[in-house]
Amino acid sequence: MFDQRASFELLGSDALEQSAVVANCAMNREQQLSGVNSYTRELGFNPLDVLAADAVGAGRAEPLAAAGWLDLCCGTGRALIQAAGELRLAGLTERTVLVGVDLVDAFDPVPAPPPNLKLVCASVATWTPKRTFDLITCLHGLHYVGDKLAVLIRAAGWLTPTGRLVADLDLSSIRFLDGRPAGQRLTARLRAAGFTYDSRRRRISCTGRRDARLPYRYLGADDRAGANYTGQPAVHSYYVEDH
Ligand SMILES: C[S@@+](CC[C@H](N)C(=O)[O-])C[C@H]1O[C@@H](n2cnc3c(N)ncnc32)[C@H](O)[C@@H]1O
Repeated sequence: MFDQRASFELLGSDALEQSAVVANCAMNREQQLSGVNSYTRELGFNPLDVLAADAVGAGRAEPLAAAGWLDLCCGTGRALIQAAGELRLAGLTERTVLVGVDLVDAFDPVPAPPPNLKLVCASVATWTPKRTFDLITCLHGLHYVGDKLAVLIRAAGWLTPTGRLVADLDLSSIRFLDGRPAGQRLTARLRAAGFTYDSRRRRISCTGRRDARLPYRYLGADDRAGANYTGQPAVHSYYVEDH
C-alpha cells in the first residue's frame, strides 16, 4: 500500500536546482560522441549521421536552413564539441547548428569556439530556443528535472517537421501525492500525444514537431527519492491529474 499523503516537502524549481542531488559533481557529465561512454552507444545511432544527412538536404522542408542538434542537460558538452570538430572536417560548419544547455557551467573548454556551437548555462525548465531542431536529445538529464513532462512537451514543440526527440525517462519517477507512480495511464496518454515509450530502455521519443498537451499539473519535486535505475540519486516529480 502507498502512503495516503506525502510525508515530505515538495521542492520548487529554485530549491531543486540548488539541491546536492541535481548539482552534484559525481554524475557522469562526460559522455563522448562515439566509442565507450558515448551518445552513439546510448542512442544506437550517431547524432552526426542525422545532422549530416539533414545538412546536405535530404528530406528537409527548408533546404536553406542549417541542420540543428539540441542537447538538453548536455553536461560538459563533450559530444557536441566533438561533433563540431567532425563537422568542420566535413566542411559542414556553416550548414549546422549545435546547441547544448546545462544548469551547471561545467563545459569543457573550447579555445576557439566554432560559429556553429553554442553552450548555454541555463535550466531546461525555462530556457527557450530561437529555432527548431532536427535532433533533440536529453540523455540522463530528466532524472534531475522537476517538471519532466513540461520539458518533454516544450521540446516536442521545438522539432522540425521531420525532427527527432530522444530522452531518457524513468516513468516510475512521475508520481501522485499518495506515492503512486503515474503508471500505465500516463504511458497511454504520452502515446496518444504522439510519443513512443520504450519501457525496457526507459526511453521516450517522438518524431516531428507537435503541440502536445497532457492532463497533469506539476506540484513539485522530491530530491530524497534515492537512487534510480542508473544507480545515482534522482528526483521524483509530483503531479495531480486534471479531470
Ligand atoms: C547525468 S548528467 C548527463 C550529462 C550528459 N547528457 C551526458 O550524458 O554526458 C545530467 C545533467 O543534467 C543537468 N541538469 C540537471 N537539471 C537540469 C536542469 N534543470 N536544466 C539543465 N540541466 C540540468 C546536470 O547539471 C547534469 O549535467
